[in-house]
Amino acid sequence: MKKITAIYPGSFDPPTNGHLDLIERGSKIFEELVVAILRNSEKSPLFSVSERREMLLALTANLKNVRVDTFDGLMVEYAKSMDATCVLRGIRAVSDYEYELQMALLNRKLEPTLETVFMMPADKYSYVSSRLVREVAQAGGPVKGLVPEVVEQKLRAKLDPAYRLEQAPESGRPKRRKKA
Ligand code: PNS
Repeated sequence: MKKITAIYPGSFDPPTNGHLDLIERGSKIFEELVVAILRNSEKSPLFSVSERREMLLALTANLKNVRVDTFDGLMVEYAKSMDATCVLRGIRAVSDYEYELQMALLNRKLEPTLETVFMMPADKYSYVSSRLVREVAQAGGPVKGLVPEVVEQKLRAKLDPAYRLEQAPESGRPKRRKKA
C-alpha cells in the first residue's frame, strides 16, 4: 500500500494541548505527519516562528513519524513539495466548520488531488484555542491544562517579569542592599 504523508498546517502560536492531541491522533493514521508552521502570517505573533518550532520539536520528540517544518506561500504548493497527499485539520465545534469547509474547498479548487482530513480533538480540549490561551496568559491567568508544560513555561518566561527575574543568572539579578 502507498505511504501517506500528511501535513498539519497552522499558526501554533502557541501550540496547545488540542494541537498535541491532534498530532498524536494523526501520527497513528498517517505513515508520516509533517507539522507545518506558517511563516508569513500577517498577524503579529506572540512567539517567533523559531520559538514555535522549538516547542513543537520538544513536544513531538517521542513521535518517530512526526516532523516539524515551516512554510510560507500557498499551503497546497508546500504540500506538493513534501509529496503530501493529505492535509490534517482539527474541528472542535460546529463553529469551526464553516471556516474549515471554506478553506478545504478552496484548497481542493487549487489542488484537486490533495485531500483534507478532519479530526476531532478530545472533547476536554474542545474549547481550547491558541488565541484564548494568549489572552488568558497575557492577562496573567493560569493556562495549566490548556497547554503542555513546556509551553506554559515559555509563556511565563515571555509574559511574567517576576518569573523572568527568578530565572535570571545571579549576575543579572538586582543586588540586595546591605542592612545598615
Ligand atoms: O492555525 P491557523 O491560523 O488556523 O492555520 C491557518 C493556515 C495556516 C492553515 C492557513 O492560513 C493557510 O494554509 N495559510 C497558507 C496560505 C494559503 O494557502 N491560503 C489559502 C488556503 S485558504
